Amino acid sequence: MTTAIGAEKPKFYITTPIYYPSSNLHIGHTYCTVMADAMARFRRLAGYDVMFLTGTDEHGQKIQRIADGEGVTPQEHVDKIVGGIKELWATMEISYDDFIRTTEDRHKLRVQEFFRAIYEKGDIYKGVYEGWYCTPCESYWTDKQLADGKCPDCGRPVERAKEDAYFFRLSDYQDRLLALFAENPGFLEPETRRNEMIKFVEQGLEDLCVSRSSFDWGIRVPIDEGQVIYVWLDALSNYITALGYPDAGDGISSEKYERYWPADVHLVGKEIVRFHSIIWPALLMSLELPLPKQVLGHGWLLLDGGKMSKSKGNVVDPVKLIERYGVDALKYFLLREYTFGQDGLYTNEAMIGRINADLANDLGNLLSRTAGMIEKYFGGHIEGPADGSAGGSVGPADGSAGLLTGGPGVLPAEGAEALDAQLAALATAAAGKVEGHMDVFAFNHALEEIWALISRSNKYIDETAPWALAKDEARRARLEAVLYNLAEALRIVSVLIYPFMHHSADEIRSQLGIAGKTAMWRDASVWGAEGAYDVVKGAALFPRLDMEAELAALEALK
Ligand code: MSP
Repeated sequence: MTTAIGAEKPKFYITTPIYYPSSNLHIGHTYCTVMADAMARFRRLAGYDVMFLTGTDEHGQKIQRIADGEGVTPQEHVDKIVGGIKELWATMEISYDDFIRTTEDRHKLRVQEFFRAIYEKGDIYKGVYEGWYCTPCESYWTDKQLADGKCPDCGRPVERAKEDAYFFRLSDYQDRLLALFAENPGFLEPETRRNEMIKFVEQGLEDLCVSRSSFDWGIRVPIDEGQVIYVWLDALSNYITALGYPDAGDGISSEKYERYWPADVHLVGKEIVRFHSIIWPALLMSLELPLPKQVLGHGWLLLDGGKMSKSKGNVVDPVKLIERYGVDALKYFLLREYTFGQDGLYTNEAMIGRINADLANDLGNLLSRTAGMIEKYFGGHIEGPADGSAGGSVGPADGSAGLLTGGPGVLPAEGAEALDAQLAALATAAAGKVEGHMDVFAFNHALEEIWALISRSNKYIDETAPWALAKDEARRARLEAVLYNLAEALRIVSVLIYPFMHHSADEIRSQLGIAGKTAMWRDASVWGAEGAYDVVKGAALFPRLDMEAELAALEALK
C-alpha cells in the first residue's frame, strides 16, 4: 500500500529513546519502538509529514566498562552492537526517518555548541561533584534520594564519586518546571508519572553535574580538555541535533529543525521520564528553545521473575519470535496485549493465544471464507450494486440510508437491509473511533475497535449464510451483494490495520485484487469505494498454532 503525498501537510515529529548499545536489545526495548512505528505509520497514512527518529546512546561510563571488559575499544564495541540494532529494526521493518548515533560528528559538534551556549549564558559553572553514581542508569543521586542505599530507579548498587566537574543550574528552573506541569498538564502523561515528577521537583532540585573527568568515553567539554560531557546531556540533545540544530559549521542545514521542532511526542519508558520531563525541558529553557509538546511514559514488559535483564539471563529475543511467527504477529501482540502507561507481563502463552484467537481465527478466517466463497460462487469476480449506491460515499454513522440492499431484481431477504446497514455503519465509523484512541496512544483500544468490525463481519457471514443463498439461483444477486459487502468490510479492515501490521494489510489487498491501488486513511470511512473485486484466494494469513508444541519449541530455543 502506498500513501499519497500532499502539498501542505501538517507535521508530526515522534521520537523513541536512543538505546544504549550495551548488549543486544530484547523484546522490552522493541515495545517502545513498535509503538512509535505504528504511530508514525498511522500519521503518514492520515496525511501527515512525519519525522520519526530513533538511534543509539553510545557514550558513558557503562559502555566504557563493558568495552574494557571485552578487551576492545568502546568504538569497536558500539559499532558491533549498533550494527545488530539496525538489523533488528530492519527485520521488524521499523519505518524510522533517521537513526542518530551519538558518536557521529553531526551530533558531537552540536552537543559541544549547546554546552558552550549554556556556559556562556552563565548557567554552567565549575565545581566538585561529591555524591553517588548509578552506572547502569548513568545517574547521580544524593544520600537522601537513595532507596536502602541503592539506586532508586533500578535498585542496583551505586558508587561513590568525587571529581572536578561542571554543573548546570537546574535549581534555578524549579519554579518554571512546576509552572510547566501546572499550566500544561498534557505535557507529561500518564498522570501518575506527572504526580511523581511534581513531587520530585517540589522536594527541591539540586544543580546537575554535567561533566565527568574520571573516564574519557564521551564528548569533550569544549572549554575544558580534561572533561567529557555528561552522557544524559549528550543523549537528550539528540532530539534536536538530528534535526541539524544548532549550526555547527559542517554544512548540515537546520531546515529540519525549523520544520519539525518542537517534537510532538517523546515516547519513553517510565524510568527515564525524569530525564525527559525535568532535565530536558530545563536545558531547553536555558537555551531559550521551545519545549517538546509531550512526553509520554510507558510501562515495562515484565517476565515472571520481574524485569528482563541480560544479567538475570531472562531476556526474550524478538528475532526468534519473528522467525517463527512473523513481524505482524509480534507487532500485533505487543500493541494489543498491553495498556499504555502500565506494566504488563510477557508470556509465550499469551502471545500464541492472541495469534490463534485474533489473527488465525478472526482475521484469517474472515479473509479465507470471503475470498473462498467469492471464488467458488463467482469465479473470483463480484460487482457492487448497479444502482450506484456503492459510489464512494461516506457511510452514515447511524447506518440509516444509502446502504446496500439485495441488488436489482431481487427483493432482499427479511432483515437483509438492516444487516447490511449495520455492517456498513460499523465499518465506516471504525476509522473515527480508531483515531480517537490513537490520539491518546491507546493502541489496544484502537485494535479492539478494528476487531469489533472483524467479528461483526464474521457474524454477518453466519447471519446471511451465503452457502444457503448459493443453492437458490433466484437469490444470486443477494449472494453477490453479501459477498461484495464482505469484500468492502475487508478492504476497510486492510486500511485500518495497515499502521499496525502492514504485511497483512497488503496480503488482504492482494487477495482482494486491489494491491496496486493507493489507499489513505480516509478511504476507511468510505463504503463502496471499489465498484468490483477480482479476488484470488491466497494462503492463510496466519496458520493456526498448536499451543503445546509451540510452548515446547520456544522453551527449547531459550
Ligand atoms: N540511553 C537511555 C535513553 C536516552 S534517551 C535520550 C536509555 N537506554 S536503554 O537502552 O537503557 O533503555 C531505552 C528504553 O528501553 C527505555 O525507555 C526503557 O524504558 C526501555 N526498556 C528497557 N527494558 C524494557 C522493558 N522490559 N519493557 C519496556 N521497555 C523497556 O535509557
